Amino acid sequence: LLTKLKQDCATPLPLLHHVADAMSSEMRAGLSSVDGPGLPMIPTYVHTLPSGNEKGLFYALDLGGTNFRVLRVQLGGKDDRVIDVDFDQVAIPHDLMFATSEELFDFIALGLAKFVDKEDSRFHFPPGRKREIGFTFSFPVKQTSIDSGILIKWTKGFAVSGTVGRDVVACLNEALERQGLDMRVSALVNDTVGTLAGAEYYDNDAKVAVILGTGTNACYIEKLSAIPKLQGHVSSSGKMIISTEWGAFSNGLPLTVFDREMDAASINPGHHIFEKTISGMYLGEIVRRVLVNMAEEEGLFGISVPQKLSMPFILGTPDLSAMQQDNSGDLQAVGSLLYDKAGLESNLSERKTVLEVCDTIVKRGGSLAGAGIVGILQKMEEDSKGLIFGKRSVVAIDGGLYENYPQYRTYLQHSVKELLGTEKSNNVVIEHSKDGSGIGGALLAASNSMY
Ligand code: BG6
Ligand code: GLC
Repeated sequence: LLTKLKQDCATPLPLLHHVADAMSSEMRAGLSSVDGPGLPMIPTYVHTLPSGNEKGLFYALDLGGTNFRVLRVQLGGKDDRVIDVDFDQVAIPHDLMFATSEELFDFIALGLAKFVDKEDSRFHFPPGRKREIGFTFSFPVKQTSIDSGILIKWTKGFAVSGTVGRDVVACLNEALERQGLDMRVSALVNDTVGTLAGAEYYDNDAKVAVILGTGTNACYIEKLSAIPKLQGHVSSSGKMIISTEWGAFSNGLPLTVFDREMDAASINPGHHIFEKTISGMYLGEIVRRVLVNMAEEEGLFGISVPQKLSMPFILGTPDLSAMQQDNSGDLQAVGSLLYDKAGLESNLSERKTVLEVCDTIVKRGGSLAGAGIVGILQKMEEDSKGLIFGKRSVVAIDGGLYENYPQYRTYLQHSVKELLGTEKSNNVVIEHSKDGSGIGGALLAASNSMY
């Protein structure tokens, strides 16, 4: 079964090239028509990235990863840049993912109210001036302006009722009102967009931002003239950031029966297949499904399948990473983790098998993520003739998966290098942009301030 798994998950160079090419052409298709073929390619109505001149106190709300965060960012303009950042962070309670829309937005507004309540007089605003918020909302949203957008669908296991089809800024405003908070959302942004804004603020060569965490997505700077579906839309920069929602990609992926079964059991079957193949929410679950099959078919871990292992999502991607960092001869840490998490008694050979399964799934994920990045860069290069590979181009990446899984990072980087070759890849800098989307959200609130 391990041999078959490795064959089914293999990502040889021609397959990676196919994925990169298909990513480029699905980007083009998605830019051409609304609801047509290709990637969603969501217009963000962010026409310019922060200039560095932004000044004042701004807030950010960040919802969509493992944690919900409220931030207050003090911006000092050209010379001082970000002077101070303060934030509160809580893990998103699991129940909230299945709550009602009101409950979800009340949770956000309450978090903000508590944060603002703690403020001392340094942070008091003059009468008549509202506090302004950048709302980083990491789900697919159909935007028609910088400060409004309709939730298209939930991803990443969220199944909150009553939000799809509604303007999430209106939902937030109603909840702010219920909390008695008089604040204004001046920018609604995806986490990729926040990350790009945060990264570009410090490094002008940042051109693409990628999230590899619970979910995955990428955004980049596009010329308006290359977005036929926005025909007639003008902006002084002539550009707009596009959120690709590449999680929806599925062309030519090496999928297994385990992926298909996991997809069928998900809250969004048939959707976001790339996300389900490469992102943090799912890698642990794919490995668990493979191990159950090996236990049933080949007696891995003894005669009967341990009951705990049958529980969906009992193994998380952080568990895979923790196991893969075990360099001891007897794989003691792997053994303990298998026992604690899944009730599995294991011998050395079984632990080695588990590690090989982890590595197979993680190698596939990291390599495909690399191919996706190359697909975006290729598309940008084709349209700009030398402005991507001919000069330094930064891809800013954030998210727990990229940050905490060294093997995943290595496979991703290797795939990018292999696909681009030495000369081109020398100009492509992949950087970790930690928590950039919070600050990016506040920066975009500042650059879209009404004052
Ligand atoms: C964070 C961003 O840094 O990365 C979030 O601020 C984003 O908006 C996230 O969703 C990814 O986080 P996670 O928890 O899914 O790895
Ligand atoms: C999911 C969301 C997307 C988000 C990504 C990363 O794919 O649909 O909007 O950017 O996760 O958090």
